[in-house]
Amino acid sequence: MFTSEGPTVRELAVQALSSVEHGYDLLAPKFDHTPFRTPERFLTATTRALRPYGPFDAALDVCCGTGAGIGVLRDLGAPRRIGADLSAGMLAQAEAAHPDAGFVRADALALPFEAEFDLAVSFGAFGHFLPAERPPLFASVYRTLRPGGLFAFPIGAPLPVTSALYWITLGFDTAMRVRNAVWRPPFVMYYRTFPLGGVRTDLRAAGFDVSLTPLPEFGTRPDGTPRWRLVLARKP
Ligand SMILES: C[S@@+](CC[C@H](N)C(=O)[O-])C[C@H]1O[C@@H](n2cnc3c(N)ncnc32)[C@H](O)[C@@H]1O
Repeated sequence: MFTSEGPTVRELAVQALSSVEHGYDLLAPKFDHTPFRTPERFLTATTRALRPYGPFDAALDVCCGTGAGIGVLRDLGAPRRIGADLSAGMLAQAEAAHPDAGFVRADALALPFEAEFDLAVSFGAFGHFLPAERPPLFASVYRTLRPGGLFAFPIGAPLPVTSALYWITLGFDTAMRVRNAVWRPPFVMYYRTFPLGGVRTDLRAAGFDVSLTPLPEFGTRPDGTPRWRLVLARKP
């Protein structure tokens, strides 16, 4: 999970007691050595699944962090690649790693673009948004897209109650709720607040046409349904 190059327990604790923005500023130099950075296999699976929907001209990585998704946009051949994130520290790392892309410090709830992109992606960041924030988040991404533009992101199937991960994520979310009830500033990060049903409803309400495509790289559940799928939300 964590390597010797990653953050110490103390550094992680200080981050967890900060705001989301400041926490990521602190974590930024070591972020790529944590399990919070989206693993390569999600990025390559997404690139493969998106290729038939290209070519893409201008593409946006929402909550880009250190730039994991910018590589996807590059591999898809998008000549104009922009990353947006709240944390200046994360953006500094992303700029160093991807000098040929552009970066903007912006809240994903109020992205400063109007009909500029034909693709928007996002990885590993939706846990930072409460369910009530999904409508403004999706409206914000919708505004950035040209007509016909695509908003794409991976989503996992619900975890079975018999799996260890189910209980680990439940425990994490419970601990975060307690932390946020007693400590300011809040650090919004939950694993179980972005279920496909609610996400699809809110995407449609924002105006998107929504479809799903399996990511077969991650296999299927015992009932034959995919463990991971790519949400494809198209602006009509
Ligand atoms: C877990 S990191 C994921 C980074 C990257 N997308 C990846 O997959 O490795 C979450 C990122 O979301 C950013 N973030 C959280 N809330 C945000 C918001 N409201 N607007 C923009 N960025 C936000 C954080 O600053 C952080 O860089």
